[in-house]
Amino acid sequence: MLEDRIRHRDLRRRVMPAEAAQAYIRDGMTIGVSGFTKAGDAKAVLQALVDRVRFTGERLSIQLFSGASLGETDGVLARNGIVSKRLPYQSDSALRAGINAGTVGYLDQHLSHTAEQLRSGFLGELDLAIIEAAAITEDGWIVPTTSVGNSPVFVEQARHVIVEVNENIPELYEGLHDIYLPAARPNRMPIPITNVRDRIGTTAIPCNPDKVVAVVPSTLQDTPSNVGPADADTERMAGLILDFFEHEVRMGRLPAHLAPLQSGVGSVSNAVFSGLARSNFHNLEIYTEVMQDSAFELLDAGKVSFASTCSFTLSERMQAHVNRSIAAYRDRVVLRPQEISNHPEVVRRLGVIAINAALEMDIYGNVNSTHVGGTQMMNGIGGSGDFARNAGLTIFVSKSVAKGGRISSVVPFVPHVDHTEHDVDVLVTEQGLADLRGLTPRERAKTIISNLAHPSYRDSLLDYLKRASARGGQTPHLLEEALRWHQRYAETGDMRQVSLAHV
Ligand code: COA
Repeated sequence: MLEDRIRHRDLRRRVMPAEAAQAYIRDGMTIGVSGFTKAGDAKAVLQALVDRVRFTGERLSIQLFSGASLGETDGVLARNGIVSKRLPYQSDSALRAGINAGTVGYLDQHLSHTAEQLRSGFLGELDLAIIEAAAITEDGWIVPTTSVGNSPVFVEQARHVIVEVNENIPELYEGLHDIYLPAARPNRMPIPITNVRDRIGTTAIPCNPDKVVAVVPSTLQDTPSNVGPADADTERMAGLILDFFEHEVRMGRLPAHLAPLQSGVGSVSNAVFSGLARSNFHNLEIYTEVMQDSAFELLDAGKVSFASTCSFTLSERMQAHVNRSIAAYRDRVVLRPQEISNHPEVVRRLGVIAINAALEMDIYGNVNSTHVGGTQMMNGIGGSGDFARNAGLTIFVSKSVAKGGRISSVVPFVPHVDHTEHDVDVLVTEQGLADLRGLTPRERAKTIISNLAHPSYRDSLLDYLKRASARGGQTPHLLEEALRWHQRYAETGDMRQVSLAHV
């Protein structure tokens, strides 16, 4: 019953359909919505807004802030030209096209930063927050659904709030979340998380009920994640990482149960976690921003004792399983706001092992995660930088080639840097693993080229390194050549035609 989920009596009088609630949205507004990597996003009101724009032909655009990517909504809004500015992350092809055409402004941010910037006033004022909820408490506080994202700070900062109460989310979601908002500076205290399972906040988002202008019933499901299945290359990368973990345990550099694991969305992460399910590791812990299917499989297999996350990004099958079995996860999973799940202080304290994917890496260990060819936005940096800079062990993975071998993912110089050589400990391709810890730039370059580059590019990279080294420098480069591989790909569609000895 909807009434049971809206326990604040006055707010029951503000129930209205999405078609009515969307009328609160006006041209030029800045709106913060729930949603993190397709999970727990506000769906009903934005969809109704799209219908309004379609049927009336009204010209309307909003600045849209979220936790991370939304599900189908990002694409629908983009195709209807409704978003003028977007932050802090997206992964939709239509929105990406608008961003790269310059018709949509995009702020690609570290996911732990948005809350602080909003609070500090750099991002302007928030007119409205739209938050998906499993329930509203007696005090009018909001119980989130499959993610927390930036919802607490949006509710705190917004002038008005619309709550979408999703009746398809089991009521037992209440109690899963741990909402903690850091106090204002300069009197802020340390975040008291010393263990992944620590609970430090409340189970619902504090909300002044006077701000709530509408409560909208919804039954819309999260857009299922569609991570591709593992292939031979991703399996090989996962195997290399697991062998490396065993080696680190033997060397006494990691405990037998490793350290809390963070792993990005994608097939390599899924393959690593599936490999852990078959491994001898036990009693593992997860401290991450996104739990994919494989993380729940590790919980089900008893390999993981506890998982802290910001969202559940799951296939349709796993969504159904988790919703059916949510009671069994309640004492083994916690959902946190992204400024806490990704907080540098906590990530550093826990010594997290961070595994994220790269588009490309250069011979000195700089990583590009976001800009294809140095200019075209793919998705965004997401939480990869929050974890990479602060983790106890930072790993990036990539296939050694892309586009059928026409692109080398190991290049002389990345044309865009998301993660600097100072933040990267280990790089992995299907060719091998490079442990860069303790190596100088010249040592790193040799290791990266011989362990990671595809054989069809190895000699050209060695040739580049040799000629650059002859010129000297702490980090030798031939600046006039450093980006020529990318230039050649842009002109001919194939990096392999480049022979650096003769350019
Ligand atoms: N140059 C150009 N294109 C490249 C490339 C390169 N060096 N390397 C990969 N690509 C292309 C692939 O061909 C593929 O294209 P397609 O979609 O047309 O098939 C696409 O990029 C994705 O590559 P894929 O190998 O499938 O990797 P992925 O799905 O694991 O995504 C990132 C890799 C880097 C794009 C993705 O991990 C990401 O967005 N990361 C940043 C956010 C992040 O790490 N968040 C933290 C955890 S959630």
